[in-house]
Amino acid sequence: MKRVITYGTFDLLHYGHINLLKRAKALGDYLIVVVSTDEFNAKEKQKKSYFSYEARKALVEAIRYVDLVIPETCWEQKRTDIHEYHIDTFVMGDDWTGKFDFLKEEGCEVVYLPRTPEVSSSQIKEDLQEKK
Ligand code: CTP
Repeated sequence: MKRVITYGTFDLLHYGHINLLKRAKALGDYLIVVVSTDEFNAKEKQKKSYFSYEARKALVEAIRYVDLVIPETCWEQKRTDIHEYHIDTFVMGDDWTGKFDFLKEEGCEVVYLPRTPEVSSSQIKEDLQEKK
């Protein structure tokens, strides 16, 4: 069984996220999605999501391509997750190209998938703000 992992905030779930998760799952048999907690977003990414961690987790869990959702609480956990969950392939969107190549040292494949053009959670927030 080939195990795939990916990370993100997944706020205001949109078709860019679904496309990413569909292609990630197609790279293996079991897909783990690591969703950033509200604390991690606030402290490390200076980001405040619209939906709480619990709501984002429930939404991602409902996607047919996703087998397991776990919390992301620090940058360092990627290395340990790969071993703990016996990961074969680490996947991110290509906005992160090159940033996680060091994980190859842990023995997994690192794949950057092309982002779906135009849509993003921040863009949705901005656009809705303008329409008020
Ligand atoms: N993603 C994608 N295509 C998009 C938007 C996101 O493939 N149009 C991917 C990202 O590359 C990442 C995953 O979906 O691997 C989760 O991304 P996340 O940062 O949560 O979503 P964004 O919409 O990019 O959020 P933000 O605007 O806050 O950065």
